[in-house]
Amino acid sequence: MTCRRGALIVLEGVDKAGKTTQCNKLVQALQDSGQKAEMMKFPERTTKIGQLINSYLENKSNLEDHTVHLLFSANRWELMPLMKEKLEQGISLVVDRYAFSGVAFTSAKPGFSLDWCMNPDKGLPKPDLVMFLQLSPSEAAQRGQFGTERYETTVFQKAVQQKFELLMKDSSVKWQVIDAARNIEDVHADIKNHSVDAIKAAENEPIGELWK
Ligand code: TMP
Repeated sequence: MTCRRGALIVLEGVDKAGKTTQCNKLVQALQDSGQKAEMMKFPERTTKIGQLINSYLENKSNLEDHTVHLLFSANRWELMPLMKEKLEQGISLVVDRYAFSGVAFTSAKPGFSLDWCMNPDKGLPKPDLVMFLQLSPSEAAQRGQFGTERYETTVFQKAVQQKFELLMKDSSVKWQVIDAARNIEDVHADIKNHSVDAIKAAENEPIGELWK
């Protein structure tokens, strides 16, 4: 019998929604229940491309907007072989941000169409489930100040949220909106249930291609 593949599970959402906390908890819960699961995050700041992105996000360097968009995408493509290898080994990947952040953040800048922003990520491994952690800007503000990285302002995050809403209308991607205003454990239980279902459904399906 061939090995059942792992599922590609993505968590998206605006800042302060609790994505990283929930990714960690999900991986732990899946591992505790005997499933093979690992976490990944984008941008992956440790590669050469990731270091360029990191310096840009920390406002230590400036990059032209199209250029940085393509670098974020290249950062996903450079990890594509590793992602596929792990999925084929039966490891489910829980990913903190993916191409949807790429499109939502760049298209929130003036002069960028959704279509132009989606193009470079077309053909990446398609997630079996994308959970969008929903949190209103006022609830996000109650969770404390934004950091000092680029994009961490309420005005920009509102624009990003609107772009995510447009992306969620695309039925070629399996979206699930999660109410992130609840306590950590309730949000986790919800995320875990959806993930277990997605892992089961993906087992015997080929890995899809995003936006193709
Ligand atoms: P992080 O705080 O989750 O590490 O994300 C870094 C920032 O980069 C965050 O503001 C979202 C932004 N971003 C993009 O602009 N394009 C992308 O493709 C990704 C993955 C993140």
